[in-house]
Amino acid sequence: MSERRVSGGGRLSGEVRVPGDKSVSHRALIFGALAEGTTQIEGLSPGADVASTASVLRALGVEISGAGGSRSVRGRGLGGLSAPKTELDAGNSGTTMRLMAGVLAAHPFASRLTGDASLRRRPMERVAAPLRAMGAKIELAPGGTAPIAIAGGALRGVEWTPEAASAQVKSSILLAGLHAAGRTTVVEKIPTRDHTERLLALFGAEVEARGGAVSVSGGGRLRAARVGVPGDPSSAAFWAVAASLLPDSELAVRGVCANPRRVGFLNVLARMGADLKRVPAPDQAGEPVEDWTIRAAPLSGVAVRPDEVPGLVDEVPILALAASRARGESVFRGLGELRHKESDRLAGTAALLTAFGAKAAVSGDDLIVSGGASLRGAAFEPRDDHRLAMTAFVAGLAAEGETRVSGAECAEISYPDFYDDLLERLS
Ligand code: S3P
Repeated sequence: MSERRVSGGGRLSGEVRVPGDKSVSHRALIFGALAEGTTQIEGLSPGADVASTASVLRALGVEISGAGGSRSVRGRGLGGLSAPKTELDAGNSGTTMRLMAGVLAAHPFASRLTGDASLRRRPMERVAAPLRAMGAKIELAPGGTAPIAIAGGALRGVEWTPEAASAQVKSSILLAGLHAAGRTTVVEKIPTRDHTERLLALFGAEVEARGGAVSVSGGGRLRAARVGVPGDPSSAAFWAVAASLLPDSELAVRGVCANPRRVGFLNVLARMGADLKRVPAPDQAGEPVEDWTIRAAPLSGVAVRPDEVPGLVDEVPILALAASRARGESVFRGLGELRHKESDRLAGTAALLTAFGAKAAVSGDDLIVSGGASLRGAAFEPRDDHRLAMTAFVAGLAAEGETRVSGAECAEISYPDFYDDLLERLS
């Protein structure tokens, strides 16, 4: 386990490009594998989660070549994957496991998806139930977790309203739906990120989104595409908060995906009084893209509503850190889904803030953060959760004294160079 030490103080300046968006990267690889022709991807996420998707696809006979952020994916066409010779290992990646479950449900062979200890604790019944309703045979471990054993085959379309607001569940069902007889519709109570819908359209699929419902039909095909992956807003969020908190900072973040269903944290930061300018840049992968400039500014407490949570679900830890330094109390409501992330991120966020001397409490599904804390350096163990590790490092910069983040290497899941990128822009 590697430890990262950091001392508080300093300002951020200069500019940065964050890695390619993790959600778009997974989808570009998977849709490329299911398309006809060769898909070219630029700016693919360098994170371990996306590498898990590539290795699962390779085990299913897909040729993927290239280096750095460039990849060529030789498509096999819808339903064209080969039976795997071994278990498929999704590592730490929920997106790999849930999206691939939808794809494999439609292939006429047996497969088994597994993952690391964290992924094997996460709920999978949420994808198994709709895929069974479409005709797949799916078995889970007791408790509704992975490994997922799939006996795939001919599927029929379904209309499904997921209990949880989850883009992974929606995408799993839609991917199965592309292979199914008839029409498949997912009705969402609260809209979640729509990268699947946008990128499928780029691959030539007909996707209809109306009100809260998204539909696809089986029997079509996907055409290979050129995909430029925009920067990951969930990674950019660490910069936005770090530059807001460190006095005299002024930092530019270029080429960030500004999909309105991903950047809910910008609305929250704006309500807190952050000084963040957004300038449109050319679209990529069917997604709006922006350049941001962030200057340090005093922040005030904020109330976050449950209906906002899907739009900022991965940014709660870093927003909660911002709230701990703000004037006045902040309340984040409706965070139940955070219990099912790479760790129990609701408990983990409260534990992190408390470790740094801030006051935070969980009440039901809500997180209450008392503002105005002067943070003091801490020893923090992020429980293999990349977003908690990176939040702790930013907390260390905003705190007095020394901070030690153990197991810091878990940042590799989404942002391998995070710590060095940050230290390079610190003076
Ligand atoms: C993702 C959806 C979200 C998010 C995850 C990526 C996706 O998960 O937390 O990091 O790419 O669809 P849920 O679908 O579980 O909310």
